[in-house]
Amino acid sequence: NAASKGTYEFYMLKEIDEQPGVMRHISQDYLDENGKPVVEQDIVDAVADSDRIYILAAGTSYHAGLVGKNLFEKFSDIPVEVGLASEFGYHFPKLSKKPFFIFLSQSGETADSRVVLKQVNERHLPSLTITNVQGSTLSREATYTMLLKAGPEIAVASTKAYTAQIAVQAVLAKAVGEKKNVADAKEFDLKHQLALVAEGMQQLVDGKEKVDELAKKYLAKTRNAFYIGRGVDYAVALEGALKLKEVSYIETEGFAAAELKHGTIALIEKGTPVITLINDPATADLTRGNIREVESRGASVITMVAKQFANENDDIVLPEVDYYLSPLVTIVPAQLLAYYASKNKGLDVDKPRNLAKSVTVE
Ligand code: G6P
Repeated sequence: NAASKGTYEFYMLKEIDEQPGVMRHISQDYLDENGKPVVEQDIVDAVADSDRIYILAAGTSYHAGLVGKNLFEKFSDIPVEVGLASEFGYHFPKLSKKPFFIFLSQSGETADSRVVLKQVNERHLPSLTITNVQGSTLSREATYTMLLKAGPEIAVASTKAYTAQIAVQAVLAKAVGEKKNVADAKEFDLKHQLALVAEGMQQLVDGKEKVDELAKKYLAKTRNAFYIGRGVDYAVALEGALKLKEVSYIETEGFAAAELKHGTIALIEKGTPVITLINDPATADLTRGNIREVESRGASVITMVAKQFANENDDIVLPEVDYYLSPLVTIVPAQLLAYYASKNKGLDVDKPRNLAKSVTVE
């Protein structure tokens, strides 16, 4: 059954490996044979009618929301604010005239998010929960629900729910954009792109031994590490860092690549791993410059670079997919790096200390 570990030692690796299948599943269920989004019309109408989308979430789901902002702004042409539910709940910003709220939650039970939704309902504002769990609390309490269809996620560290959240947001962003006649949405062949993503993810999981070697070489002894990237890679850097720290206990921070030099570069010592993500055409060269800055301070740089910008010295070459969907492939080697860093230390990958799969207290 879907929740069994099968031959895997840990659920986390099983769930990483399942991601190409999850992408295909989402594509089949949410796009018709012509690539038209299949989304409840009421949801599309409600989002299209809004003047601003507020995405609320916690943890990994928050990071998926940061990627979602790029998707909704590009394909739906609606401004987006992404909030940490725990902060938003007690410090509501000044809302736009016609807000629409999206709650991202794998479990649908996160207390921090429920606090926000309660107030959204008190104000009679429209909301959508995107969740992996049908009938979950956030799903029942929101106006609308879309399911992730990722299958049960058992490992505490979220992997396939993150990529599913990004893919489902892309579907909704395109559906809303098409309804609004946004050229970028109409021209975007999401079905084809998701097929490329699934293929690319498969290549990356098939190449997992290479990532294991990188983990052994750079992460076995280190106390700390950094992830850097720009554009959507900045959002992925935050998630890559969270993955690594939560399962391996290596203190890891994600940074906007150029921001490191404004302070945090002081922490770079000989051998400090700096994992660098490059997918953004607008800034690929600038990020190469940031690599030189940290290398000259002794950092050990691990590069994960889209094929079109890669050279023979890069560690992981990412398959070429549309920039806006690139987080779906970039995160895979980052998840694998976290997995191996943890497993090679002999830790319980699926159950990191102090963490719970779903947090129902504020
Ligand atoms: C917990 C989990 C995280 C998860 C977060 C939000 O802290 O350990 O992996 O990202 O809750 O959970 P949700 O179910 O709302 O996505």
